Amino acid sequence: MTRGPFEGGADTAALRSALGRFATGVTLATCCDRHGNPVGLTVNSFGALSLEPPLVQWALRAASPTLAAFEAAEHFAVNVLTEAQVELSRRFANPSERRFELGRWSPGRYGAPVLAGALAVFECRRQAAERHGDHVLFIGEVLHYTAHAGAPLLFHASRYRRLGEPL
Ligand SMILES: Cc1cc2nc3c(=O)[nH]c(=O)nc-3n(C[C@H](O)[C@H](O)[C@H](O)COP(=O)(O)O)c2cc1C
Repeated sequence: MTRGPFEGGADTAALRSALGRFATGVTLATCCDRHGNPVGLTVNSFGALSLEPPLVQWALRAASPTLAAFEAAEHFAVNVLTEAQVELSRRFANPSERRFELGRWSPGRYGAPVLAGALAVFECRRQAAERHGDHVLFIGEVLHYTAHAGAPLLFHASRYRRLGEPL
């Protein structure tokens, strides 16, 4: 499929489909709201931004009910999922009050919820939250992280996948 110059607004479904050809991992971004309640959602816009200083980024749909909490929280965490955690990804991508009833969660060093068994966890101080189009770009300074060996959960063309053999 080819598309001509993108004039904007024309066909977001086609653009979404094209962007979905880019395979990603899957994460759960988390924070606490001003009452101390855990807040989180499934995010695959996560990415590395800088090594020195250590910065990561992700984008949150501006209409998300979680936006106020992420904008107010000084810290957030990004939990990278394993292939065994696909149900968590589904749960955190669906409207529900009960997201944190699935999985073993505990407060991280800076308060944001951290998932036991995650492939990696990045605990961050929010450095920027910038509105761009219909999303808000969050940039975080990595204050603490953990990483483990394991099989990542992947997302490609609207489907969950597991990693294949090395090429
Ligand atoms: C694999 C996957 C990746 C997603 N990545 C993002 C993302 O990067 N940013 C975002 O705002 N929503 C993303 N979503 C959608 C949210 O997880 C979904 O809209 C969720 O319901 C948001 O929670 P909310 O209703 O509390 O806003 C993703 C969903 C899936 C299944």
